[in-house]
Amino acid sequence: MHGPMRAYDKTLEVWHVFEELHSQGKVKQLGISNFYDPEAVARLYSDSKVKPAVIQNRFYADSGYDILIRKFCKEHNIYYQSFWTLTANPTIINSNAVKKMAEKRGITTSQIFFRFMMDIGVVPLTGTTNETHMKQDLAVLDMPALSSEEIQIINEMLSDSI
Ligand SMILES: NC(=O)c1ccc[n+]([C@@H]2O[C@H](COP(=O)([O-])OP(=O)(O)OC[C@H]3O[C@@H](n4cnc5c(N)ncnc54)[C@H](OP(=O)(O)O)[C@@H]3O)[C@@H](O)[C@H]2O)c1
Repeated sequence: MHGPMRAYDKTLEVWHVFEELHSQGKVKQLGISNFYDPEAVARLYSDSKVKPAVIQNRFYADSGYDILIRKFCKEHNIYYQSFWTLTANPTIINSNAVKKMAEKRGITTSQIFFRFMMDIGVVPLTGTTNETHMKQDLAVLDMPALSSEEIQIINEMLSDSI
């Protein structure tokens, strides 16, 4: 579901239509996107028969980086997917701290940020028309995790930018 309807009841009505498609075997999983209200997420979860398998949200300072929603996802086995991951975070990605982490490994700052996202339990979405970027993005899957100190440094930058 690309986003919530204006009224919660309508959102639930649409969700029930999707649940029907799920029960007919026409879709395997249901997901929601652009849901930034933690209470609405929890409410939909408790009101639904087929629980959301994934939440896909903009990963940016304006939503406080969805700290509560990410916690809810973790507790309820829901994938949290980020979009605008690179687009919305240039200050952090171009920071000296992230540059140093990238230089140390001979990789790019975007790769560091994607690795950080995976290390904190987020599935980062991206898109590219550039073959080099595509290879770099896929290589992140095989990279070892950042150190806990590095994760803390980037987490603090996220908190500072809220
Ligand atoms: N649910 C929604 O409402 C919603 C809204 C927007 C997007 N999305 C989804 O989110 C996905 C990601 O899109 P996004 O715009 O949010 O992604 P993003 O990661 O914020 O930005 C993608 C941009 O970053 C560049 N890029 C990708 N890999 C890179 C790398 N390794 N180094 C440097 N630059 C890199 C790409 O440019 P180059 O082509 O030059 O590499 C592309 O223009 C989309 O496929 C879309 O399906 C969902």
